[in-house]
Amino acid sequence: MTYRTHWCGEIGPDSVDQEVRVAGWVHRRRDHGGLIFIDLRDRSGLLQLVFDPQVDAQAHDAAENLRGEFVVSVAGKVVPRAEDQVNPNLTTGAVEVSVSGVQVLARSETPPFFPEERVEVDETLRLRYRYIDLRRERMQRNLILRDRAVQSARRYLEAGGFLEIETPILTKSTPEGARDFLVPSRLQPGEFYALPQSPQLFKQLLMTAGFERYYQMARAFRDEDLRADRQLEHTQIDLEMAFVGEPEVQDLVEGMMVHIWREALAVNLERPFPRMTYAEAMLRYGSDKPDVRFGLEIVDVSDLVGGVDFKVFSQAVSGGGAVRGIRVPGASGFSRKDVDDLAAEAAVFGAKGLAPIWVEAEGVRSPIAKFFTEAEMAALLERLEAQPGDLLLFVADRLGVVEPSLGALRLSLASRLGIERKGWEFLWIVDPPMFERDEREGRAKAVHHPFTRPRLERLEELEEHPFSLGTYAYDLVLNGVELGSGSIRISTPDLQEAVFAVLGLDEEEIQAKFGFLVEAMDYGMPPHGGMALGLDRIVALMAGESSIREVIAFPKTQSGSDPMTGAPSAVEAEQLHELHIRTAK
Ligand code: AMO
Ligand code: AMP
Repeated sequence: MTYRTHWCGEIGPDSVDQEVRVAGWVHRRRDHGGLIFIDLRDRSGLLQLVFDPQVDAQAHDAAENLRGEFVVSVAGKVVPRAEDQVNPNLTTGAVEVSVSGVQVLARSETPPFFPEERVEVDETLRLRYRYIDLRRERMQRNLILRDRAVQSARRYLEAGGFLEIETPILTKSTPEGARDFLVPSRLQPGEFYALPQSPQLFKQLLMTAGFERYYQMARAFRDEDLRADRQLEHTQIDLEMAFVGEPEVQDLVEGMMVHIWREALAVNLERPFPRMTYAEAMLRYGSDKPDVRFGLEIVDVSDLVGGVDFKVFSQAVSGGGAVRGIRVPGASGFSRKDVDDLAAEAAVFGAKGLAPIWVEAEGVRSPIAKFFTEAEMAALLERLEAQPGDLLLFVADRLGVVEPSLGALRLSLASRLGIERKGWEFLWIVDPPMFERDEREGRAKAVHHPFTRPRLERLEELEEHPFSLGTYAYDLVLNGVELGSGSIRISTPDLQEAVFAVLGLDEEEIQAKFGFLVEAMDYGMPPHGGMALGLDRIVALMAGESSIREVIAFPKTQSGSDPMTGAPSAVEAEQLHELHIRTAK
């Protein structure tokens, strides 16, 4: 038999008098003694069915036994609704189907929750019954939006001459800064594949192989601590181009974002997206992914306070650190307790205190005022452009503490003050340093990744002053979220080896881990560069969701598990045996 002739959402006033067959789930059922109304739901929307014993007694009897989430196919005639029954919120709201036949295709137990909007359901329960959760309109909308974004990106890249090429999932460890997922090899006892943290090295090899323009909707796997914007597996719109510099890659990616926003959201973005150096972003916003939709900018006062009597400030400066502050307009009403709360938030990033100055018409009020001469205080107020009614907040420490703590404070203040954050503020963050010091291990670490080309004239500079080298890397930020990052790559073996050396790899490790890459550089690797954009984050922002779990069909919980399948789970002893694995637990 035919289950359906029409989708529910297709049926409107134009369909009146047509005989139709529709199929879907019983969304809601109302028994009006005599008439039974059912809202039938399929992917396209809701359609009202009416079962009238006068029209078809058998169908009406059957409807008495229908319950929420039963799956049915029904036949009937489209009729206009009575005027007082018209529902302007539904595309199908002016009509209903007068049912003459029902077929129950599947029954349903009373579900743990109904896919109606408005009901708040615990997330673990939602994930345990994800197939029901995904029936909700909001989730359908999110996944449809995701599809639109993906298809739109594909069309754009295809038109730009890109080839979609798959790269292996069972591979060798590619460091992107996270922990690898390992897969034991049965055929080679004691050896492991790693799941790719990104297709990075393969896409570089595809450039060497002459494909020139590659893209892939690539799964990337990282065993890291989960947050709202992080999953163990995520999807990247990954791309790479040969014979290009930064402008070409950025231009292409900008064009892609404009295209996606236009096709999937009907929003016209302005180009070019603004650019800000990494140094400026850290100074003014305390973050490499600043939300520039509001002010509350950070101001450096180190040069003003090096000589003041307040040791916390002067010693921070003499010790090579900094003193920076934020002027918070309209926050003079903040109490000491409010400031203590903010200090506790800053403490998460290592701030040992938060010095407040309340600026009032009669003068300043502050626990640190006594350490300042009148001139010193006046200079401070002038630098921050303080006005009566403001609260000024300062942190003194090394940069690694001052920047992130004020960066976080800025966001927290925006929330506390109810500052509206609207719009689409795309921003390129460019010219980051090549290396940073890993604070725990004291070693050099690549800010982007070790395959990024440093800005230098002579190879020796890598040894002479590694920490002052810039690099041809760029991040795309939207509304304070890092959407993607990329760079122009190293394509010569001597430079690649020298960068590995700064990162502390000896010749043997380079050979063992990256021998294949360095070797490829001996066989004609073109200059190349690219980028990867986090698809989950893009769609979450487009959908107005605060967690990427809302735009992933089957995500993991915060603890990395899937309540539906029960993964991760124990396996048979036999499976482990075959893999030559013995567990310690
Ligand atoms: P990167 O590591 O910055 O770069 O990753 C690119 C983008 O992928 C997204 N992303 C994530 N999304 C969800 N969960 C995660 N755990 C997660 N990790 C990253 C972010 C991020 O900006 N190979 C390089 C790119 C390149 O140089 O071409 C790379 O993977 O949006
Ligand atoms: P104290 O001298 O410890 O009483 O601190 C005086 C004021 O300075 C308090 O408001 C502290 O929160 C603040 N303070 C202490 N350490 C720092 C710091 N590292 N940066 C900014 N303010 C600080």
